[in-house]
Amino acid sequence: MSTANDSVLQPSGFGKHARQLVRDPRWFNSGPPADLLRAHFITPRELFFTRNHAAVPELDASRHLVRVGGQVARPIELSMERLRTDFPTQSLAATLICAGLRRNELNAVRPIPSEVQWGTEPVSNGMWRGVRLRDILSAAGVEAGAGHVAFLGADQIERHGEHFEFGASIPLEKALESEVLLAFELNGKRLTPVHGYPVRLVVPGYIGARSVKWLSRIIVQAEPTSNYFQSRAYRIFPPEVSAESVDWETGHSLGEIPLNSVIWQPTEGSSLTAGVNRVQGWALAGGGRRIERVEISADDGLTWNQARLPAPCDPWTWCLWEAELDLQSGTRHLTVRAWDSAGETQPVNPADIWNFKGYANNARHRIKVTVVPEHTNESADEADSFSSPTEPWK
Ligand code: MTE
Repeated sequence: MSTANDSVLQPSGFGKHARQLVRDPRWFNSGPPADLLRAHFITPRELFFTRNHAAVPELDASRHLVRVGGQVARPIELSMERLRTDFPTQSLAATLICAGLRRNELNAVRPIPSEVQWGTEPVSNGMWRGVRLRDILSAAGVEAGAGHVAFLGADQIERHGEHFEFGASIPLEKALESEVLLAFELNGKRLTPVHGYPVRLVVPGYIGARSVKWLSRIIVQAEPTSNYFQSRAYRIFPPEVSAESVDWETGHSLGEIPLNSVIWQPTEGSSLTAGVNRVQGWALAGGGRRIERVEISADDGLTWNQARLPAPCDPWTWCLWEAELDLQSGTRHLTVRAWDSAGETQPVNPADIWNFKGYANNARHRIKVTVVPEHTNESADEADSFSSPTEPWK
């Protein structure tokens, strides 16, 4: 089996676009600016966001093994060749989203100093190709009493003086769903090292942290994993809990993506011309639910306008929406809220959902713009009035 000790890659850009926003250079945590991201339904590889918790391992695919064990009748070791040839391959479009998306808005409510200050950029939509986890579990034979499937990556994490692999687990019920893949391709090409080469898990509908990269072990077990990234990180706590007072047992371990939506265009602080302006963005429901409705307000939530959606929205990918708003001159607050197939909508304010790790900010996204009368339109931001990406949902 190859391990992270094979070698690690230096974060020299990992083939990313020159304008990629690097929020944490140490592990190359990055995402694309909104004007590049919004131009594509499937995010090009050079723009796809990256989230790592340690150095990127450089693995040798010819030696790499995925070991399947725990509560199974037949433990197996899968080479990359066996993975590709012994199981049917599947393609699936799925959006990856980091649970820390929009942490900067929570940080503005109350500081969250020790976490990556993500804005709206750690989200991307990929076309994944690989094999179904359920086919592998079926080959291994899940035993009675199993309730969860745990995963380990080959990257070596150091936290509080301890060394361990990145890990996660998902309920067995989810692991047996057809959308959960062991992926070896992103957008028609083999994974790049930063995205988990040679093989990663993709868990559509769940936070990105459960889609373990550089996958090396699959362990079927009764309980969720005790790995740091399941038992401490990626847990959500009530607002009164702090890093000092936290009892880790009491938090809720994040799984399904919370319903969210973001305004891509115009951007915060833009200057627009009075009259009809196009507003665009994405919405995403978690856990296999669909986006049913997206609404935009130009008066900070007093009245709402329906956005256009592709019909129907796919449960595993973001849903790109657009609307035209007739804007009067002055300072305007544009706000978006999505509704999902469970009839849920988003919380109003980030302050209502503040948590000390800064996860799962799905409060209504709100931006401030300045609208100038038509006759002074030389000061308006051309890019934000009626310039449109090519048919966003194609
Ligand atoms: N897997 C491993 N082995 N190590 C990691 O640090 N980061 C997770 C997940 N899988 C991570 C991992 C997190 S938090 C996210 S959001 C996604 O990978 C990001 O995937 P990407 O870098 O391909 O966009």
